[in-house]
Amino acid sequence: MAEILGLGLSHYPPLSTPDSIMSGILRYTLNDASIPDSAKDPKNWPAQMRREWADDLGVKAAAQHRAQLVEQFRRVRQSLDDFKPDVVMIWGDDQYENFKEDIVPPFTVLAYEDMDLYPWRHAQNSSMVDNGKPNAWGEGPEKHYRLKGQRDAAKYLISGLIKSDIDVSYAYKPLHHSSLAHAFTNAILYLDYDRVGWDYPTIAVPINCYGSKVISAKGFLTRMDDQLVLDPPSPSPARCMQLGALTAKIFADSPWRVALVASSSWSHAFLCDKHYRLYPDTTADQKLYEAMVQGNFDYWRAQTTEDFDISGQQEILNWSPLLGAMQALGAKLNWSSFVETHVFNSNKVFAVYDPV
Ligand SMILES: [Fe+2]
Repeated sequence: MAEILGLGLSHYPPLSTPDSIMSGILRYTLNDASIPDSAKDPKNWPAQMRREWADDLGVKAAAQHRAQLVEQFRRVRQSLDDFKPDVVMIWGDDQYENFKEDIVPPFTVLAYEDMDLYPWRHAQNSSMVDNGKPNAWGEGPEKHYRLKGQRDAAKYLISGLIKSDIDVSYAYKPLHHSSLAHAFTNAILYLDYDRVGWDYPTIAVPINCYGSKVISAKGFLTRMDDQLVLDPPSPSPARCMQLGALTAKIFADSPWRVALVASSSWSHAFLCDKHYRLYPDTTADQKLYEAMVQGNFDYWRAQTTEDFDISGQQEILNWSPLLGAMQALGAKLNWSSFVETHVFNSNKVFAVYDPV
């Protein structure tokens, strides 16, 4: 009989890198000549940011940040293992990895068969571990997972969404990526931080979170004075919640135990122009977090694409379907945590809902 578990986590790319370079995104931004020196001067930063940065470019703070995150990933993994899912479905962004100039679908269900996922060999630019860069586990290019697909469940979901008037795209094989974009790969790598393995059949559902910057900025870092020719927007937060609500209802009528996973950090410094891309919009994140904890789904539904873009919260569109799904199921939030940081690009939220 079907049962649904809702989980939320981060896929923060620099967690895959050693502590010595975990603050790499901020270091890149501090080299941006188009950002005023006064903004880049630590004297003018929030106190917590100065403490994290300290006198070592955030290296000691990186170890603490890693320890905090790994603890949350272990806790989420335990909930997943306790649930014993038949299939894990992940909502994540595609940052100019599988989808490029030839097609950018708002939502896609990847109905892949089993595949070999090589996290380091297949890594692309936005994963920050491409071209043989070191990784935190000291693993080489041969490291891989035999990732199980679950095409029957994927096709069941696609059919259900289309019959519900959500005209979702689907694919049976990758386009521009050799396996899965980092939003999905990192979710697996971090849920498997202790390298016990990953045997759960997995369905990836990419969302075009980057909208106006998916092609123009190649879904990643630019200089602040780059003149981008912007792309059309992402799907709206409300539409993403509708996708999630319908996904939950469709799987609730299925024969499978399904874990629904939202994969992304929240506000990203490198997308937050109002902070000169130096640190994330923690105030905006805290409001969303409070609304999530209180079950105030209307607050989430009322967010606009512009709200998310201004606060560098593009990737929270991966969490909107989870919120929509949990509301549709009446699922209770069992546990959540908010890991705040200024130096390490993004705040990270973790959540576990009671299975329904
Ligand atoms: Fe991402």
